[in-house]
Amino acid sequence: MIKRSDVIVVGELNVDLIMNQVESFPEKGKEKLANEMTLTLGSSSAIFASNLSSLGMKVSFVGKVGNDIFGNFCKDQLREKGVDTSFLVQCEDVKTGATVILNFGDDRAMVTHQGAMLHLGISDITSEMLSGARHLHFSSYYLQPGFKDKLDVLFQRAKHAGLTTSLDMQWDPAEKWDFDFKKVLPYVDIFLPNESELLYLTRRNTIDTALQTINGYGNITVVKQGNRGSLLYADRKLVSRKPFLNENVVDAIGAGDSFNAGFIFKFIQGVSPEDCHVFGNLVAAISTTAAGGTTAFLNYVATMKIAKEKFGYAE
Ligand SMILES: Nc1ncnc2c1ncn2[C@@H]1O[C@H](COP(=O)(O)OP(=O)(O)OP(=O)(O)O)[C@@H](O)[C@H]1O
Ligand SMILES: [Mg+2]
Repeated sequence: MIKRSDVIVVGELNVDLIMNQVESFPEKGKEKLANEMTLTLGSSSAIFASNLSSLGMKVSFVGKVGNDIFGNFCKDQLREKGVDTSFLVQCEDVKTGATVILNFGDDRAMVTHQGAMLHLGISDITSEMLSGARHLHFSSYYLQPGFKDKLDVLFQRAKHAGLTTSLDMQWDPAEKWDFDFKKVLPYVDIFLPNESELLYLTRRNTIDTALQTINGYGNITVVKQGNRGSLLYADRKLVSRKPFLNENVVDAIGAGDSFNAGFIFKFIQGVSPEDCHVFGNLVAAISTTAAGGTTAFLNYVATMKIAKEKFGYAE
């Protein structure tokens, strides 16, 4: 059967309004100036979808935005990157999510209005959407209450429809970490937390004990460790991999989501987990060479050129 897409991404969408070179922290009753400003497509799910599409995969996105300027912006940005937006719903009664980011020095402050992302739920994901793809990726569990305690149902449905699956649950802003991994992970082929997320989720102090805690529930787990690289845990074997170190990081926005895109790009081509791991690290490193989460990725050939010239990677 011909599939509509290689990967269907279910997740949150928002714009990022980034204020750079802000004079100082905001203060009640006062006005501060920022020397630079950028409006860009935000959200973990969108960065993943965009970069996977730039690498050459057919990607569909399921999400909710408002019927407003920011909603149109999200849609246009995804389309520009080649992502199929037919499953994007523009709601009349809620606004598109937005994060205002204030950068001053190495510090930042953020305010997010979740808006329409609060309204995407399990019943929005139809069987036709799932069966039209080969792989399901879900990101940002804690930002989407429509999936609270129901994510196992979505992943179970995907598995029954014959898809492979991946999950990046991301950070919990409430820091409660009440995600029932025992119910969900059996249906997740690739689990992609970062190190602190995994430790908080399992309520353990070391990676070894955290991995033991999820062992028996999860399948392949990849643990992202910032500029220290990442770990691959598969078949009870732990492999540590150093990053393709970028000494001149422009920013690390979306490095984790780019890692996910690189890993899944290879995984759905049937490549071994070890080689997916290498490619995840590579795509993450490339994302740190340009501002924001998606700028570094034009297309596959251009990405491989950066890989060769900056990181000595040869296919
Ligand atoms: N300085 C760097 N040089 C090269 N690669 C890097 C660097 N910093 C991070 N990376 C790569 O980025 C990957 C993801 O990093 P990180 O641990 O920040 O993920 P994350 O916290 O999930 O990110 P996100 O904020 O996008 O969710 C790392 O595993 C590594 O491969
Ligand atoms: Mg992350």
